[in-house]
Amino acid sequence: MAQEYRLILRNVDQPGYTTDIDCYLRHGGYEALKKAISLPIKDLLDGKKLSPQEQIRDEVKISGLRGRGGAGFSCGLKWSFVDRRSGKPIYLICNADESEPGTFKDRQIIYKDPHQLIEGMVIACFANDVHLAYIYIRGEMPDGARILKRALEEAKTKNFLGKSILGTGYDLEIYVHRGAGAYICGEETGLIESLEGKRAYPRIKPPYFPAVLGLYMCPTIVNNVETLAAVKHIVSMGGPEYAKLGTPNNTGTRIVGISGLVKKPGYFEIEVGKATLRDLIFGENFAGGLRDGRKLKAVIPGGSSSKILKAGETSKLKKKAADGQMTTVEIDILDVPYDFDTLQAAGTMSGSGAIIVLDDSVDMVKALANLSEFYAHESCGQCTPCREGSLWMSKALHRMTHGKGRKEDADYLSDIAQNIQGRTICAFGEAASWPVLSFVKKFKDEFENLTTNQEKPL
Ligand SMILES: Cc1cc2nc3c(=O)[nH]c(=O)nc-3n(C[C@H](O)[C@H](O)[C@H](O)COP(=O)(O)O)c2cc1C
Ligand code: SF4
Repeated sequence: MAQEYRLILRNVDQPGYTTDIDCYLRHGGYEALKKAISLPIKDLLDGKKLSPQEQIRDEVKISGLRGRGGAGFSCGLKWSFVDRRSGKPIYLICNADESEPGTFKDRQIIYKDPHQLIEGMVIACFANDVHLAYIYIRGEMPDGARILKRALEEAKTKNFLGKSILGTGYDLEIYVHRGAGAYICGEETGLIESLEGKRAYPRIKPPYFPAVLGLYMCPTIVNNVETLAAVKHIVSMGGPEYAKLGTPNNTGTRIVGISGLVKKPGYFEIEVGKATLRDLIFGENFAGGLRDGRKLKAVIPGGSSSKILKAGETSKLKKKAADGQMTTVEIDILDVPYDFDTLQAAGTMSGSGAIIVLDDSVDMVKALANLSEFYAHESCGQCTPCREGSLWMSKALHRMTHGKGRKEDADYLSDIAQNIQGRTICAFGEAASWPVLSFVKKFKDEFENLTTNQEKPL
C-alpha cells in the first residue's frame, strides 16, 4: 500500500513543533546551510577547480529536482541559464503567490516551517551569487507574510542572513513582498512586473526570460516555495541520494493537496511517482475515498488549469516487460502514477500538485462555469484572445447554467478555447482554455443536453 514519505513536511504537524528558530535549530535546522557555505574548493582530475557555489549547482542538477510551481522544469537547468557574465546583480525570487485554485501546499511550509524555506533560499542564493532576494507572497496570506518576516528577523539575529553570513563574508538580504491578490501575479514575469511596482502584465518570452532579463532587467531566478525548500534537503543528503527518491526523471518528493468530495481532504507528501491517483484518492493513508454512497466522476489532477480526467478513461503507459523490453500497456486512469511525465502522457499534468475530486453529484456545466468565471475575472487583459475569449466562455456558461443552453454551445465553447490557446503572451491562455476543452470533450452530453431555447450566444 502506498504511503506518505515526509521529507519537507517531516517536522510539520509533530507535537510541539513551532515556527521558532530555536525549535528549528533543535531539529537540525541550518546545518545544510553551514555545510553549503563551508564546502572546500574541489579539485577535479583535469586540474579544474570547482567553487562551493558550482558544487551546489551541480548537486541540484544531479538531484533531478524539477520545479514544483507548475511546469516541472528542471531546477538545475534553470539555474544554469542565469546570465552570470552580464556584470549585473543576480536576483532570486521565491514565488509564494499560490493562487491556482485547489492549491494549498506552499502555505503549509510557510505557516508551519518557515525557516526551512529560508534555509533553502539562502543556500540557493549563495549558490547563484545572489545578494538580494524576495519572497513574493499573495496578498490574501497576511499571516504567512507576518510569519516569514518574523522568521527572517530571527535568521538575521543568528547571522544566517544579513552581513557576512556565519563569518564567510557573504552578504544576503531577503525581503517579503506582499502581492495585492491577483492570480496572474503567480506567473513569473507578471510577478516581476508587480514586484517592480507596476501592474502584473506578463512579459513576452523571448526576450524577457527571467534568467536573462528579469527583475529590473537583471538576471533573475524565480522558484516556487517547495522547490526552494527541497534545495536544503539536496544539500543535506547530496544530489545522488535525493535522486534515489521518487522515480527516474521524476525524483524526490512532492506535496500533494487533495480537495473536493473526499472523506479526508488534506495535504500529503509522496515520493514522486510512487503513488497512483487511486492510492491518493482512495488510500486510507491519503484521502480515504469518496463520501458514502458516492461514485467517482472525474479528477482534476494538477490544479484547476490541468485537463480533467474522467473516471473510467484509460491511458497508455510504457513499462518494462519481464524480458527487459519496453512495452506499452493500457491502464485505468486511476492507476497512473502521480508524476510529471506519466500525467503528461495521459494528456494532462501534475501542475501545482492539487488534486480536485468530483463525484457523481457534480453538474459538470456548473463546475466549469465556476472555473471559467475565475479565469475571466483574472485575465490581465493584455491579449485579445484571452481577455475576450475568457469572458465569452464565462458568459456562455453562465447562460447555460441559467436555463438558456443551446445544443451548439459545446462546440461554441471549444471553438473559443481553441482560439485562445497558443495565441497569448503567457500560459494563462492555456490555463483558461484547457479546462473548457477537456470538460466539453469528456462530458459532451452534459453540455449538449441542457434546456434549450434558441437565443443567440452572448
Ligand atoms: C497563470 C499562472 C499562474 C502561476 N501561479 C504560480 C504560483 O502561484 N506559484 C508558483 O510557484 N508558480 C506559479 N506559476 C508558474 C510560474 O510562472 C513559474 O514557472 C514558477 O514559479 C517557477 O518555479 P519552479 O521552477 O520552482 O516551479 C504560474 C504560472 C502561470 C502561467
Ligand atoms: S494570456 Fe491572458 S493573462 Fe496572460 S498576458 Fe495575455 S491577457 Fe494577460
